[in-house]
Order: sequence, then structure tokens, then C-alpha cells
Amino acid sequence: MTGSLASAPAFDPWSPEFVAWPYDVFADLRENAPVWRFERTGQWVISRHADVDALLRDRRLGRSYLHVATHEEMGHEPPADHLEPFWTLNNNGMLDREPPDHTRLRRLVSKAFTPRTVERLAPWVRSYTEGLVSQLLDAGSDGSPVDLIQTVAEPLPVAVIAEMLGIPEADRHLLRPWSADICGMYELRPSAQAQDKAVRASIEFTDYLVALAAERRQNPGDDLISALATVVDAGDQLTDPELVGTCVLLLNAGHEATVNVTGNGWWALFRNPSELARLRDGEVGVGSAIEELMRWDTPLQLFERWVLEDIEVHGVRIPRGDEVALLFGSANRDSAVFPDASRLDLGRTPNPHISFSAGIHYCLGAPLARLELGTSFETMLRRVPGLSLAEEPRWKGGFVIRGLDALQVTV
Ligand code: HEM
Repeated sequence: MTGSLASAPAFDPWSPEFVAWPYDVFADLRENAPVWRFERTGQWVISRHADVDALLRDRRLGRSYLHVATHEEMGHEPPADHLEPFWTLNNNGMLDREPPDHTRLRRLVSKAFTPRTVERLAPWVRSYTEGLVSQLLDAGSDGSPVDLIQTVAEPLPVAVIAEMLGIPEADRHLLRPWSADICGMYELRPSAQAQDKAVRASIEFTDYLVALAAERRQNPGDDLISALATVVDAGDQLTDPELVGTCVLLLNAGHEATVNVTGNGWWALFRNPSELARLRDGEVGVGSAIEELMRWDTPLQLFERWVLEDIEVHGVRIPRGDEVALLFGSANRDSAVFPDASRLDLGRTPNPHISFSAGIHYCLGAPLARLELGTSFETMLRRVPGLSLAEEPRWKGGFVIRGLDALQVTV
């Protein structure tokens, strides 16, 4: 059932053509090789919705294996010494922990992200968004193109998560470059240059947060870093590396994908003018439109899981120690679940897309992301009714984190 893949050579996450439009190759994978060995990374690529969904919930797999075995026991080399600052940071956030540590970390942080807590942020998010859209309108008032990503898509989620954590305004410009450099490690086989950048950013970001957390322990404020630095939940506390790992995870996860859903989402609307018209006319709601935009062009294309006990998928045995690569972007286009899956249908219901994952690592920030995206699209539609594309955008290099370099628009 590994099948043969008509377009095997075309599955090339390092090629700009594939990054620009991976969806035809995904269709081939789903049809002909739903469990496919990608020799260049040694991973098992899984492309159907039912399989991706099931494996995300299957406790025989994990984001990490270090809670049950050493690298050597799993048949892997330990990471190179010089990458240690990155891995320390990464391995101390909840995303790369498994129970019981994951349960403990997620419980400590989750209170800040319940739908009710997030709803309390709504007025602040609305007024901040109004300000950004005013700046966009000013910048484009003479008819010149303005970059929607730099003016609205990026500043909004960065400001929201920085505000929640209590990062002083003067330091916020540091966050995006650190985050971008660290996230370079989440692409498949990052280059030596990308690794060096990630290590440098990890060291700087860690030093910065250690100092900030120490300050907040002395003088706690009304922010999440203070809360995490002083939290004691049923006798439980975050260690220093966990505190830093958690803050970096929240800062990075808290904006990378949201920026890209805004950029990719508007780009999708410009390419589908009749759907944009339905949205502008109020025929479909912003809430359902956002879910469909996240399905149709998935912002985080691939997540990996380690196999902790042998599994079998469509008759293929995948042994302990191997890795599966779950194609979220492909699962979201599976016609077994989404009728007419390649069509953008902003009113699609139901819409069980997998963009926020499933199982124990399901996105903690989903209510916050939905608030930010809803506010941003609603405000843009209302205040910039003539928004148009000024030039064809270019995709950034990465395949896993799918986003545009810039999106030049006129207002
Ligand atoms: C549209 C925007 C977003 C998308 C598409 C998204 C997607 C995801 C996905 C797919 C995962 C799980 C990865 C896996 O299963 O391996 C995840 C986890 C996570 N996300 Fe988001 N995310 C978004 C926004 C946010 C925001 C705004 C926050 C806020 C802080 C956030 C915080 C987190 C955290 C903390 C985790 C780890 C959860 C855990 O391991 O239990 N995300 N996100």
C-alpha cells in the first residue's frame, strides 16, 4: 500500500515550484501512495485526512521520544553539541514534551488561553487593529502600494502576544527576527547557516527572558511572564528552562502562523474574486471564511511524530524509532472529507480542517488566533472595501511554515 507515486520526483520541499503549489503532488500521494517513504529524509509521509487525524491522536507516537528512550536506544545520533542552545529551548516548551510533563506544563499555561480569558482581550485587539488599519489607509492614500504583511498581518499578533506576556514595548522589535531564526529549524533538513542563526537567536532570546523573568519575580506585574514566574499550582512550579521554553514557544507559536493566515488568506481571496464578493456582501460570515482559508491554504504544512511502538498503516509496518511526516496541507484537501476539496468555499460547513492539529498537542492558542484573525479580516473588509492586489507576491523559501514574503496592495 506504499504504492508508486506518479509525481515522486516532484515531492521536493526544497524547490520553489513545489513550495508555491504543493497541492497537485499531495493529490497524487493521497490517491496512489498514502503511506510513502521519502528517502531524502527517511520519513514516512502520510497524506490522507483519516490517517493524519488518527496518528495525531495515537499515543503510540509522540512529538518526542526522550520521555521513554535515549537517542541511542531509538537508533538515532544525539544532536550535535553546537545545537544545544536551540534544543534546550525547544525541548523545554510543552510542544516537545509528552505526558506527564506535557500535561503539567499545559495545565500551568492553559488558564491564560481559555475562550473566556481570550474574550476579555477582544476590546484591546479591536482598538489596536483599528490603529493598524488607519496606518495602512494613510500609507496608501496616494495610491501607492503598501505591504499588508508589514502593516497589519505581522504587527497585530506580535503586539497581542507581547502584550499578554508583558514584553516591554521598546523590546518588541527583537521578537520577530529571533522567532524567524528559531523557526528556521522547523523546516526539513535546515542548512548549516539556518542552524547557526537558530543557535544565535536561541542564546540571545534565552538571556533576554532569563533577565526579564528574574525582574518579574522581584516585581510581579499583571502579565503572563510574572504569572508563570510566580506560579505554584498544587505545589507545582516551572523550572527556569521550562519558563523560558514556554515563553519562547508562546511568542513564536503566538504569531508565526497567524501572520501567514492573514497574508495567505488575502492572497487566496484575491485569486477567488467571487468568494471575496460573497464575503464583502455579507453572504458568508467572517468566522466561517477564516476556517476555510486555513483549510484551503494551510499555514503549517507538516508536523512530525516519532513512532514509540511499532504501528501499521494501510498494511505498512512502521517500526519503533522511525518518524512519520503528517501532511496537514494534504489532509485538508482530502475529498473523502471535504466535498469539492480544491474549491475555496467560504461558507463550507462542516469544516473539520486539521490546521490546529488534533490530540494532546491541539493548538492552545486557537481561540486567540480566531479572535485576532476575525478582528483583522472584519476590520479590513469594513474599512478598506476597495482593497486590491498591487503585484504578484512571492512565497518565502520554507515549505513547512507557509507564508508570503510580502503582499503589496492598494487601498
Ligand atoms: C492561525 C494560527 C495558528 C495555527 C494555524 C496554529 C497551529 C498549531 C498547531 C498545528 C499546533 C500543534 C502542532 C502539533 O500537533 O505537532 C499548535 C500548537 C500550539 N500552539 Fe498554535 N497555532 C496558531 C496560533 C497560535 C497562537 C495565537 C498561540 C498563542 C500563544 C498558539 C500557541 C500554541 C501552543 C502553546 C501550542 C502547543 C500546544 C501543546 O503542545 O499542547 N498558537 N498550534
